[in-house]
Amino acid sequence: MWRLGGCRIIASRRAARGLRSVSTAVTSSRAVLLPRFGGPEVLEVRPDVAIPDLKPREVLVRARAISINPLDLRMRSGYGRSIFEPLLPLILGRDISGEVAAVGANVSSLTVGQDVFGALHPTAVRGTYADYAILSEDELTLKPSSLTHVEASAIPFAALTAWRALKSTARITNGQRLLVIGGGGAVGLSAIQLAVSAGCNVSATCGKQSIDHVLAVGAEQAIDYTAHDLEAVIKGQFDAVLDTIGGPETERIGVNLLKKGGYYMTLQGEAASLADKYGLVIGLPIATAVSLRKQLQYQYSHGIEYRWTYMRADVEGLDEIRRLSEAGKLKIRVEKSFPITEVRKAHDVKEKRLIPGKVVLEVD
Ligand SMILES: NC(=O)c1ccc[n+]([C@@H]2O[C@H](COP(=O)([O-])OP(=O)(O)OC[C@H]3O[C@@H](n4cnc5c(N)ncnc54)[C@H](OP(=O)(O)O)[C@@H]3O)[C@@H](O)[C@H]2O)c1
Repeated sequence: MWRLGGCRIIASRRAARGLRSVSTAVTSSRAVLLPRFGGPEVLEVRPDVAIPDLKPREVLVRARAISINPLDLRMRSGYGRSIFEPLLPLILGRDISGEVAAVGANVSSLTVGQDVFGALHPTAVRGTYADYAILSEDELTLKPSSLTHVEASAIPFAALTAWRALKSTARITNGQRLLVIGGGGAVGLSAIQLAVSAGCNVSATCGKQSIDHVLAVGAEQAIDYTAHDLEAVIKGQFDAVLDTIGGPETERIGVNLLKKGGYYMTLQGEAASLADKYGLVIGLPIATAVSLRKQLQYQYSHGIEYRWTYMRADVEGLDEIRRLSEAGKLKIRVEKSFPITEVRKAHDVKEKRLIPGKVVLEVD
């Protein structure tokens, strides 16, 4: 038995030599638990949290860096409680960059010792705020060698969210025009870079402090939404609008700036909040009805496609994200990192918006 990073590890000799192994078993790990919903103070770093056995397509990842997403903060305060409350205590966290520690019996694309990065699905219960996290093979790929673990951890969840909207929903193509509303955050910046790489012309709205960065990653126009009347400043019509803010005003502006047949995509779909309000059994059908009603309404009134879009694992998308990141064409700036033991502080600064960009938890 080895002791490594606060974890008990029982390993085969094959694993010790770095070979693919199904017999490696890490039995427990330090992890950040969410025992109840609330402020940052409810997060608890526990030394010995049991790790379940790996299913055949799963991979055990020794975490080196975990980025904080807005979803982590929202889940901590009770968003998605209709799904998550019966499953407490949870482990938060979607993104991860680290090393493969063990693989399930049917994993064929990854081997023990490789550096990987990836992200869990939004509804995963056992998240990545831990020394060891479990992801499926499809949720991971090789870490770009040009990036540190901290840099790599900032990318997957945000970039896969943008990928799904742009590539799976709007199917953007070379020469099209994209508007990103709220382009200064991780999803917005990912969307700009993915669209520019696909040969699109991108305009984005963002806060004053993000203007230079939005232009530096390839947008041809960056508009400060706190200082300008967006409708007066944004010229022409777009093939797709990705709205990361998703309020009534940004929705109104977005749909009015689309060409006929264009896609308005909001990241603020109401499925989870309606399920929280009415319970899963009633809330989810209501959400489907609300979404369909808006789709029909906008088809009729504007001739456009209206969609709620969500992050989803996508092997092809993650590979393309890795390729672009490796080539320096997709990067999310990390503003600050904290040791995982300071997770409460990290959540606090994100929540109070004391740090504008990505915040990452480092695991020693
Ligand atoms: N549907 C999904 O599956 C999915 C997936 C990922 C994210 N999301 C959601 O998408 C949003 C963006 O995520 P992200 O990861 O890009 O977040 P992020 O990196 O924290 O960036 C959010 C950006 O939004 C702007 N912003 C934040 N609070 C604001 C406010 N109160 N009013 C106006 N603008 C505000 C800021 O841009 P400026 O600095 O330019 O002002 C900020 O940089 C979040 O709401 C998140 O929950 C949804």
